[in-house]
Amino acid sequence: MPVRSSLPVRTAVRKAVVPAAGLGTRFLPATKATPKEMLPVVDKPAIQYVVEEAAGAGLDDVLMVTGRGKRAVEDHFDRAHELEEVLAAKGDDDRLATVRDLSRLARMHHVRQGAPLGLGHAVLRARDHVGREPFAVLLGDDLIDPRDALLTDMLAARTRFGGSVLALTEVDPAQTHLYGCAAVERTDEDGIVRVTGLVEKPAPGEAPSSYAVIGRYVLDPAVFEVLERTAPGRGGEIQLTDAIHELAGRADAAGGPVHAVVFRGRRYDTGDRASYLRAVVQLACGRPDLGPGFRSWLRGFAETLPGTELPTDVAAVPAATAATH
Ligand code: UTP
Repeated sequence: MPVRSSLPVRTAVRKAVVPAAGLGTRFLPATKATPKEMLPVVDKPAIQYVVEEAAGAGLDDVLMVTGRGKRAVEDHFDRAHELEEVLAAKGDDDRLATVRDLSRLARMHHVRQGAPLGLGHAVLRARDHVGREPFAVLLGDDLIDPRDALLTDMLAARTRFGGSVLALTEVDPAQTHLYGCAAVERTDEDGIVRVTGLVEKPAPGEAPSSYAVIGRYVLDPAVFEVLERTAPGRGGEIQLTDAIHELAGRADAAGGPVHAVVFRGRRYDTGDRASYLRAVVQLACGRPDLGPGFRSWLRGFAETLPGTELPTDVAAVPAATAATH
């Protein structure tokens, strides 16, 4: 007789939602006509890293939530026949493969947010496409190093615990007001905590912990029904954090529980100028093709810089974790 697992059977996660409808005001004027998710990080737009991460974790159905002026995001993942013909005629097989592979990464879908009323509102726009399945949300300006399998660990946590799974990173307590912060309890699994509540951008001294929510979520579809009646919160926006806070307080059968993977890997925020610059430099240094030459130039350049003191906003934030959402 086959041995039965004591784990409940849970619906597998197949779909990823990538909200990319924000206005990107921290990056103006670059983002006036170019979506911030399309800004190049070395030689790929930021959003390509995110879609590659989803596909790498087995999520081959990707819904982009876009808005006005975001057509470039749609075009980037579409076939480009004219370009492919030119590259083929030139015999430039490497670049041809790069361009073609992009349109085969995942089955891409698009929905428009209408008005950028907040991340929670953007996620709610995915309801018809996602249906009653659990799904992942990956923020288009938050990059996780491909060597760190965060999303895969989150999917495994969803299989084990059900409900929703967040990703948390530990930040300097002086920086918690920039993030959504989680109240947590230990579990018997190393690196996984139970989330008992969330506060979006807590006032100084009021953060429940120094665990900050980062831009990866695996969500139970119960979140849609909560978002539907979530009133605008901080900044007049419908906050995803507020809806997840409600799920965190629920009994397991009603859309809870909420767990989180504590992430200690490499993360790059591309949503504001200073952290974007750091992301480009860090990723360029690690590239096998560009890295050696770039690193040696960077060493020489650093020596020409006056003084060694960092401005306080840079010094206070760990290199790959500065972000606000
Ligand atoms: P951010 O707050 O970082 O994006 O949202 P933003 O609003 O574009 O940035 P600033 O503050 O004006 O510079 C995180 C993610 O959620 C998406 C954004 O596109 C980004 O990927 N988002 C945000 C939406 O899709 N819709 C929204 O209404 C808000």
